[in-house]
Amino acid sequence: MSVAVRPARIADVDDIREVIDRYAAEDRMLERSRDFLLEHVRDFLVAQDMAGFLGCCALAVLTPDLAEIRSLAVRPEASGRGVGRALVLACVAEARRLGLRRVFALTLVPEFFGKCGFVITSLGRLPEKSAEECPVCPKRFACDEHAMLLHLDGTIPEPLAANEPVGYTRLFLGQEPR
Ligand SMILES: CC(C)(COP(=O)(O)OP(=O)(O)OC[C@H]1O[C@@H](n2cnc3c(N)ncnc32)[C@H](O)[C@@H]1OP(=O)(O)O)[C@@H](O)C(=O)NCCC(=O)NCCS
Repeated sequence: MSVAVRPARIADVDDIREVIDRYAAEDRMLERSRDFLLEHVRDFLVAQDMAGFLGCCALAVLTPDLAEIRSLAVRPEASGRGVGRALVLACVAEARRLGLRRVFALTLVPEFFGKCGFVITSLGRLPEKSAEECPVCPKRFACDEHAMLLHLDGTIPEPLAANEPVGYTRLFLGQEPR
């Protein structure tokens, strides 16, 4: 069955919340309230097929140069069909349309983002994120996320230096993730 990706509508909010909550309950992503989703619904894309909702993803613009892919979630029943990649590539296309230069994601599945063309970087190279939002993140004392970056001008982000810390906890608090 073919998959279509489109901007989210208000009527999608309950499906978006349901799939995010499912993974949040397993500590695989951050929970989002219904109010938050309504406020940010214009950031969201959803994937669907003839049978209905398959997954979602959000593109949040952080600066005139940089956007973050957030809240990527594909229903487990739909996994392995290219839905996640279609959502990420649609966010990347939207970032290009907006005129942004870089897109990143903080993720527990760096290999998946690697398949979408992103390369691993250090959160220290994304101070727009690490200075603003990481200090209030519930995972700040045990950050196990990987920062994955894509340059939209075709250049390759500078590779990580040997032993360069990746996540927030080690980088800014000098602690090992628990
Ligand atoms: C991670 C997730 C979005 C993948 O969605 P999906 O629709 O199953 O992925 P796709 O079918 O588009 O996979 C694209 C490629 O990534 C690979 N891939 C998918 N999930 C992967 C994973 N967890 N680890 C490594 N590679 C993965 C696929 O094998 C495929 O590779 P290929 O190009 O060699 O065939 C989905 O499993 C999910 O929602 N996970 C839980 C929530 C989560 O972790 N979200 C990310 C938060 S940033």
